[in-house]
Amino acid sequence: MADARQRELGTAVLSALSRVLDPEIRQPVTELDMIRGVDVQPGGAVRVDLQLTIVGCPAADRIERDVRAAAAAVPGVTAVDVDVSVMDPAVRQALVSRLRAGRPQGVQFTPESLTRVIAVTSGKGGVGKSTVTVNLAVALAQSGLRVGIVDADVHGFSVPGLMGLVDAAGHAVRPTRVDSLILPPVAFEVKVVSIGMFVEDTSTAVSWRGPMLHRTVSQFLSDVSFGDLDVLLLDLPPGTGDVAISVGQLLPHAEVIVVTTPQAAAADIAERSGVLARQTGQRVIGVVENMAGLPLPDGSILDVFGSGGGAETARRLSVGDVPPVALLGSVPLSVALRADADAGAPVVATHPDDAAAAALRAIADRVRGMGRGLSGRKLGLTVH
Ligand SMILES: Nc1ncnc2c1ncn2[C@@H]1O[C@H](COP(=O)(O)OP(=O)(O)OP(=O)(O)O)[C@@H](O)[C@H]1O
Ligand SMILES: [Mg+2]
Repeated sequence: MADARQRELGTAVLSALSRVLDPEIRQPVTELDMIRGVDVQPGGAVRVDLQLTIVGCPAADRIERDVRAAAAAVPGVTAVDVDVSVMDPAVRQALVSRLRAGRPQGVQFTPESLTRVIAVTSGKGGVGKSTVTVNLAVALAQSGLRVGIVDADVHGFSVPGLMGLVDAAGHAVRPTRVDSLILPPVAFEVKVVSIGMFVEDTSTAVSWRGPMLHRTVSQFLSDVSFGDLDVLLLDLPPGTGDVAISVGQLLPHAEVIVVTTPQAAAADIAERSGVLARQTGQRVIGVVENMAGLPLPDGSILDVFGSGGGAETARRLSVGDVPPVALLGSVPLSVALRADADAGAPVVATHPDDAAAAALRAIADRVRGMGRGLSGRKLGLTVH
């Protein structure tokens, strides 16, 4: 093969590699100094010199596979050899500085923010906050938005499990750290960070006091490099405890969704979390009623948990000098949803035709439609 042809092939391979994204940083490997060189042999065999940011990077296999596949797909390439090495510290430091590019990491309180922050809360436990959070996140990502989740449920974190971000032993995957950058793992196109990714033993209960919780939540918001996001969802622990108060203080402009069950009695408790959110300046944008009537094979509906709780909660949160709070939707009980949750795959991704998935998608559409444009104010927050 003539020199010119080899050069042409090399250029074509580089251009193919520029479409391979680092799964965590979400930028092309060619822009991350990961491709040290491409060598084309006269017969069309290609050797790619790939350098990863750190040793044992969880995304390493995937990057290598994607690089290999991209190079192999270039017409004229007869064989691909990927030579994997690790960046030396100086190159990595330069990359980290460039990724920061003079801008601070994490959530910043700046007026020109474009990221919506939505906290999902409830009065009591087990009503489906985490389920609603992950499914809204995935549905919003499916609609083309850039979405992140902060699992702020420090006591009962469950988001890694619900998003399939666990290893065979059930431990949450660890985020990649590139020096001081913490890169959130990605599942279903959503970037996720959870306290479960930082604790050593997931079976021991984390019993933390208020100030430590505050620091942890604040660190999640400041030290994790989410890149530019359209929406950041926060899964809060149940009730009106320390974390809800911390989030209220750290993110006074966040929007809040209250999850409740259809039981009339639940409205009382759900209302409290909405009122707390409001006291810290947050805006309750709506109520999601979860675990509503179970559709039976004969077409009838079994109201296991009664009915009307969602509408009642919305009505109570609308009392006084506040904009009316909408019932965003009612999510039926669903065996598919529960089984998918146990298997680590949100139902909107795996069973999009399920009635609960459809309801969750419709809620995501409504939330999306309530963008800041409609509310006429900026949120004063940026996520980098
Ligand atoms: N619509 C539904 N149909 C069937 N099962 C559901 C539904 N919503 C949630 N579940 C199941 O109910 C259980 C509790 O849900 P989830 O963990 O989302 O609640 P939570 O409010 O986040 O709980 P916690 O207060 O413990 O954080 C889970 O097993 C989940 O799979
Ligand atoms: Mg939960």
